[in-house]
Amino acid sequence: MDKAILVDHLVKNFEVTEKTPGLMGAFSTLLSPKKKVVRALKDISFSVSKGELVGFIGPNGAGKTTTLKVLSGLLYPTAGITQVLGFDPWERRPEYLKRISLVMGQKNQLWWDLPAIETFELNRAIYEIPKKVYKESLDELVTLLEVEKLLNIQVRRLSLGQRMRLELVAALLHQPEILFLDEPTIGLDLVAQEKIRNFIYDYNRKHSATILLTSHNMDDVIDLARRVIVIDDGRIIFDGILDELIARFAKEKIIKLTLTKEIDTKELEKIGKVKSIQFPEVILRVPRSAAAVAASELLQSFPVGDLTIEEEDIEDVIRVVFRGEAKKLSRK
Ligand SMILES: Nc1ncnc2c1ncn2[C@@H]1O[C@H](COP(=O)(O)OP(=O)(O)OP(=O)(O)O)[C@@H](O)[C@H]1O
Ligand SMILES: [Mg+2]
Repeated sequence: MDKAILVDHLVKNFEVTEKTPGLMGAFSTLLSPKKKVVRALKDISFSVSKGELVGFIGPNGAGKTTTLKVLSGLLYPTAGITQVLGFDPWERRPEYLKRISLVMGQKNQLWWDLPAIETFELNRAIYEIPKKVYKESLDELVTLLEVEKLLNIQVRRLSLGQRMRLELVAALLHQPEILFLDEPTIGLDLVAQEKIRNFIYDYNRKHSATILLTSHNMDDVIDLARRVIVIDDGRIIFDGILDELIARFAKEKIIKLTLTKEIDTKELEKIGKVKSIQFPEVILRVPRSAAAVAASELLQSFPVGDLTIEEEDIEDVIRVVFRGEAKKLSRK
């Protein structure tokens, strides 16, 4: 299959000057600066096919934004290979930049004092978007993101959610084939999140766009990405289907029971951890490997009307993965 993004043994170090506190410290920093190396990306390899939408997740400081910046040509890699659409991002060739876009939830490119439409016009000129393409693109994005009434309002007067939708318009007017989305729903209310999510989903389908999406909002990942790459401390600790991540890292399963008679909870504790009990519904957690045995025991020895075995909540599993427990598991 055609690879849109190729990352091979990517390393990125930042050199930072360590500051010594106090006035004397300030002098000594000035005279003999102590350099420290932050190893943001230690060894990153992955590839993404054309048209794929991949969730790129991991805890704070893991290296997500750094990776996206390297891929968009904003940072020079220390070592390794990055290739996007056959280009070396760092060269920042105009032909390359016209085909990608980086959207960061925390940063804005819209001019604060102007209505958004004026930034759009500016982008048209910068990206040399032909008038016809611009018009088509603008019409489509404005409709999809429902921002028609917002185009002529000074950006500083808009709400965060309204602004974010306009940011997306600005970032996509040139119809990029590759989108790097860094926390696109951060700080938005549920309705706004949903709008952005629907839009990303549609844009991916409609334009066969390749999308690498980072988010701490697991709803984004669950709704949009089938495949996820988990990065932790500058290394990839998982790359695969979201369901596989759950199967691999969820240590427990959830058994839901409907009882036909009230019973002593203590008896149930012998089978598993009782998560909640609200007669006739009971929720138990049991070790993954013991789920089948526990279920048959429950059916045999308890007044059970109905029983289901379910996976743990995705959010819970991912929390475990982020806490570093997955690292230990994945090394086994
Ligand atoms: N310009 C920089 N100079 C020095 N260190 C940096 C710089 N940018 C990032 N880092 C460091 O590199 C590491 C990775 O940061 P990065 O922003 O990529 O993490 P992240 O996965 O995006 O985290 P978050 O979820 O908080 O956004 C962190 O330790 C961070 O402090
Ligand atoms: Mg980040």
